[in-house]
Amino acid sequence: MIETIKEHIAEVEKFKADSIEAVEVFRIKYLGKKGLLNDFFAEFKNVPGPQKKEFGQTINQLKQAATEKVNILKNSLEKSSEQKSIYGDLTRPGEALEIGARHPISIVKNQIIDIFSRIGFNVSEGPEIEDDWHNFTALNLPEHHPARDMQDTFFIQTNPDVLLRTHTSSVQVRYMEENKPPIRTISPGRVYRNEAISARSHCFFHQVEGLYIDRDVSFADLKQTLQFFTTELFGKSKIRLRPSYFPFTEPSAEVDVYWGLETESDYKITKGTGWLEIGGCGMVDPNVLTNCGINPETYSGFAFGVGIDRIAMLLHQITDIRLLSENDVRFLEQFKSAL
Ligand code: PHE
Repeated sequence: MIETIKEHIAEVEKFKADSIEAVEVFRIKYLGKKGLLNDFFAEFKNVPGPQKKEFGQTINQLKQAATEKVNILKNSLEKSSEQKSIYGDLTRPGEALEIGARHPISIVKNQIIDIFSRIGFNVSEGPEIEDDWHNFTALNLPEHHPARDMQDTFFIQTNPDVLLRTHTSSVQVRYMEENKPPIRTISPGRVYRNEAISARSHCFFHQVEGLYIDRDVSFADLKQTLQFFTTELFGKSKIRLRPSYFPFTEPSAEVDVYWGLETESDYKITKGTGWLEIGGCGMVDPNVLTNCGINPETYSGFAFGVGIDRIAMLLHQITDIRLLSENDVRFLEQFKSAL
């Protein structure tokens, strides 16, 4: 008999239930009026004297185990039904957080910043609304200089000294005015030009301009730097510098990257030449250094400028520049997986 009770104790300890009803059936089976425990207690009087003690203790163990089990199961089932009513089903999978996407201009801008920061360039920024000095005059473009027409400028009508910057070279002027060489800085930012809006050009776009000023900086340093940049950004190391003209650099050049002519899209991108123009560059004109308080006898430097929008379009197969400023979420969402 004692053995049977012990088996019941083991069974009670193992018992699990997933509903209050099942616990109730269990309770009645052991602790109910006609339950097993009462049967065992009724048996007590038939147990021979020497075994009474052990028998009594074992029944009490069973009673305790069954009572505890009922209490524990009831508690936890009640709690979980309470939680269900507050939080819903806690075992349900969570709802995925909607993550945003970085704008392709920011993605490419950050990539460029990252590349130049690896060779010691810091980032400088300046105002989009500029004065004539920083956008033109200090950059060797005095009033009535014919090259001012190269960039169709938005002026504030009532005050021709106030304009929307046409390039971030204005930031470089500000930087040189405030910092002594050696200078290694890139200036990313939005610029404005009064151009007709089409799939290929817009009245505002983004540039990164770079400036390096120190003793004995040469054209070879410029080419090396640009080569490092194109290798890191495009995986293409072959570049060429075509003679050009900018008022603030002398000599000046256009930068072309050899893109190749392997696929049909290479033909389209490079107009069948294999070469892709990415920006302008040159050695900073001594007049510009003087205008910014740097002695051109001691220091020399180079500068370059590339367009972020064109590069973003190239790297992400964007065929219309207007998409970059329309804020269409169907377009923006496509960059979720990008950097
Ligand atoms: N500021 C020039 C532009 O916007 C680009 C440039 C920068 C050219 C630096 C030469 C040197 O077109």
